[in-house]
Amino acid sequence: MTLALGLIGYPIGHSLSPWIHGQFMDKLGIDGEYRLYETTKANLGETVKLLKSKQVDGFNVTVPYKQDIMEYLDELDPDAEKIGAVNTVVSKNGTWKGYNTDGQGYVRSVKSDFPDVFRPENKVLLLGAGGAARGIYRALVQENFASIDIANRTIDRAKSFLELKENHIETTILSFEEAESMLEHYDFLVQTTSVGMKPNIDSKIIALNKLKHDAVVSDIVYQPLVTSLLQEAKVRGGRIHQGYAMLLYQAELAFEIWTNETVGLDGLLNKLELRLR
Ligand code: ATR
Repeated sequence: MTLALGLIGYPIGHSLSPWIHGQFMDKLGIDGEYRLYETTKANLGETVKLLKSKQVDGFNVTVPYKQDIMEYLDELDPDAEKIGAVNTVVSKNGTWKGYNTDGQGYVRSVKSDFPDVFRPENKVLLLGAGGAARGIYRALVQENFASIDIANRTIDRAKSFLELKENHIETTILSFEEAESMLEHYDFLVQTTSVGMKPNIDSKIIALNKLKHDAVVSDIVYQPLVTSLLQEAKVRGGRIHQGYAMLLYQAELAFEIWTNETVGLDGLLNKLELRLR
């Protein structure tokens, strides 16, 4: 099988996706290519035409086109439609279907490290309500938790997430101050804002003074590999989940959609961590 894959986005020169999908192809003995299609907004339509004419098997979509790509697709996975963003497109018999693997990939990455956190009595706190948080919230509400609260600087943005909610989940929208003051209630914290990202490595979205012992604290920021928030969580007896794993799991899910094969990430997590050091 010769697979033709790629990535649309801007800028994408430093993307890890060609390396990740190259590793997957090597692991499964699949022959193929994963090309970068760096595209300005004005050229998006042209790039889409090019991918159609090349009859690619599929492609990923990243910032800033996860919404814009949707108008070129023939079909949408219901979750991608709800989230309003697509990061994976598969071509079948000339028709294109869009998926969003970010949230499901994220959930898979946490499950593999901390399966015990997925319990019906557990309470989750989502920090941030941007594009990444939207996919993650949609994936989390399909799990069995008691509640998933959302704290964000812009409260209205968090409120818009309520349309993604499932009935069995309670969600309260909070300010960061409110979230901080009731932190001892939460078993699982998910940090999705850009606060703490290089070069602002000393900033933290909230203080963890009231962190519950044994809570899992997850930060999707992966540069630095261990953010200030995660460092504090460790000191306070929390268990930490680092963001780089999500890169591999969302890619693994995309690769499954394209090939119907599950890669298995053993070995690759360490390899990726070394690349990011
Ligand atoms: P992404 O696609 O990476 O999620 P995004 O959609 O721009 O990026 O979302 C960024 C998130 O980080 C948002 O939750 C944003 O808060 P607002 O919705 O209030 O803008 C949050 N964020 C970014 N900088 C922040 C800061 N200095 N303080 C608090 N939150 C911040």
